[in-house]
Amino acid sequence: MSDEDVPLEETGQEPAAPTERFDAVDVIRTKRDGARLSAEQIDWVIDAYTRGVVAEEQMAALSMAIYLNGMDRTEIGRWTAAMISSGERMDFSSLTRPTADKHSTGGVGDKITLPLAPLVAVFGVAVPQLSGRGLGHTGGTLDKLESIPGWRAALSNPQMLQALEHVGAVICQAGSGLAPADRLLYALRDVTGTVESIPLIASSIMSKKIAEGTGALVLDVKVGSGAFMKELDQARELARTMVDLGTDAGVRTVALLTDMSTPLGLTAGNALEVRESVEVLQGGGPQDVVDLTVALALEMLAGAGRPHAEADVRHALADGRALGKWREMIAEQGGDPRAPLPVAREREHVVADTDGVLERLDAYAVGVAAWRLGAGRARREDPVQSGAGVEIHAKPGDVVRKGQHLMTLHTDTPERFDRAVAALVGGWSIAPAGTVVDRRPIVLERVD
Ligand code: URA
Repeated sequence: MSDEDVPLEETGQEPAAPTERFDAVDVIRTKRDGARLSAEQIDWVIDAYTRGVVAEEQMAALSMAIYLNGMDRTEIGRWTAAMISSGERMDFSSLTRPTADKHSTGGVGDKITLPLAPLVAVFGVAVPQLSGRGLGHTGGTLDKLESIPGWRAALSNPQMLQALEHVGAVICQAGSGLAPADRLLYALRDVTGTVESIPLIASSIMSKKIAEGTGALVLDVKVGSGAFMKELDQARELARTMVDLGTDAGVRTVALLTDMSTPLGLTAGNALEVRESVEVLQGGGPQDVVDLTVALALEMLAGAGRPHAEADVRHALADGRALGKWREMIAEQGGDPRAPLPVAREREHVVADTDGVLERLDAYAVGVAAWRLGAGRARREDPVQSGAGVEIHAKPGDVVRKGQHLMTLHTDTPERFDRAVAALVGGWSIAPAGTVVDRRPIVLERVD
């Protein structure tokens, strides 16, 4: 007897409601068997999932089939469009300035949005940065900003427009009306091992960015142990897919592939990263953070039709203009930019066991350690500790001495130290003195 001959009550499958255009099981079988999904199947499955007609387990099976068999460019474009259509689209056409946004695929110590948004705003380009909270080993921009006393992430659309017009930069929580299909699907992918799929990541990110309505978009696609994409060719493919989706939707989109084999800057953890961002805005801070901020700012300004020379952009960090914009941006959302930042109650050091040159400091290991110290969350509803995280005292290529502090671990809950230290075992190594360590440039490639 074939599948088709089995009475429905024996298969346990619910028949689709007679008014539905497709049956979820047929859509799953199409992708499971390696065929292309039709435009009509995609439109229906995203809409029906958002309406609750396609069950979570059916969408989980379809996501796994996509993870295993992929989607072609036409399917990805349609999937992205269907997710955009599941919700509202924002409209910044009433603003007097052009808009540009940046999205990072996420990495350890990636605080770049914090100095970048005010820096770009200095040059008359509005930055509508809709951000998220962290899950797993990479931190979330909103969690970082929430360590500033009084600062609030939730703004209504009119408040966001007002902030963009007054200040020129806003970093806030995406409203629930933006690509709701993605919100549901991302939460499902998170618990079904289907996050690391190029078609699903690209459509997830780009549906939100296109619905947000920015005129120009710069993608920071991270490559290395602390990123989704561990290898350069995977990152290139993700970047190409997202740039094509943005361009096809009329958003001027470019991507930079950037190094995430070692943490960005010298801190991973919420308040620690805010402190470092303020150092950058004061004209100091670690070189890799400054260089990446400047590289992304130059791309955003060019995309928005306001190209500037690199020296002008660096100058706006050094002369306090970007810091002034930061203070306005934080105050506009209720924060006190001059208030002391939270500090964790307890500290423990990781020390060098020999003299030599730090050869490797693994981004993923540091990210997991920061997360275990309380900087990140395991479940969406978990609180984070503002002061928790890892402070780094040596980066690959630096000369170190036996007994020197390599890292300081910060937490309010010292029982977390053991597991954080365990995460760092094998995460760093010291080569004999005189070894030349190849430092990768921060920007590896550009895709447009
Ligand atoms: N960020 C997103 O918004 N979606 C993904 O799928 C991965 C990272």
